[in-house]
Amino acid sequence: MQCLINRNVSKLCVLLALMAVAAFGQRTYPSLGTSLSQDEIKSFDMIVGPEGKELPPGQGTSKEGADVFAKKCAACHGRRGEGGSVQHLVLGGPGNPKKGPWKDTEKSAVSYYPYPTIAWDYINRAMPANKPGSLTPDEVYSAVAWLFYMNGIIGENDVMDAKSLVKVQMPNRDGFVPAKPVWPPNPKLVLRRGERRNGRECRKNKRSIAWPYGPTTRFT
Ligand code: HEC
Repeated sequence: MQCLINRNVSKLCVLLALMAVAAFGQRTYPSLGTSLSQDEIKSFDMIVGPEGKELPPGQGTSKEGADVFAKKCAACHGRRGEGGSVQHLVLGGPGNPKKGPWKDTEKSAVSYYPYPTIAWDYINRAMPANKPGSLTPDEVYSAVAWLFYMNGIIGENDVMDAKSLVKVQMPNRDGFVPAKPVWPPNPKLVLRRGERRNGRECRKNKRSIAWPYGPTTRFT
């Protein structure tokens, strides 16, 4: 029996060794596509993060954006960014931003986003849905300026460019909690036994509840 096991184990070893040679020894993969060129990789690598470091040069105002929107967006999203056949993008109005609470159907408005760059990044990569990636940076800045103006977030003549866009204060910027709980918790946010604050309560018979989130704890 011992012998049998040994023999099987050694067969397995030989098989594994052969598979390893097959896997590592073969360096080309015929019929499995072609390698991407640096330019192709660059064309996918266009995500703009919350700090906007990747934003390209360019600029736009809400007036220019009204034109872009009418020509390239209104057919699906409606003339004023709502009432079209797909998601509405505008809530509230110029000078009157929507503040929470948000119903599920309202969360497609750009004023729901916590960072201004989300609008730029998404529109640049995914819109118009029938021709994604076709907008110039100026068109994206303009469309964002118009959407921000219509949502009451910026003024009608504010110019959106790589510098000004990241400074826009989104009305719902505090409406999200961090993806990861922050540890150790901010002592100001920890409730003691019997304490009640901001609609949260630590019952007397419980140990103190640590509220392990950072400063952005408003749920809307
Ligand atoms: C052919 C129809 C069509 C056109 C044209 C179009 N969109 Fe969209 N748009 C969509 C659809 C469909 C979605 C939802 C996509 C999804 O949820 O996956 C969407 C989603 C969006 C969103 C995200 C909404 C959210 O849920 O956060 C924004 C912002 C947006 N579009 C902006 C624009 C802008 C700006 C233009 C014009 C440059 C445009 N769209 C043109 C169909 C369109």
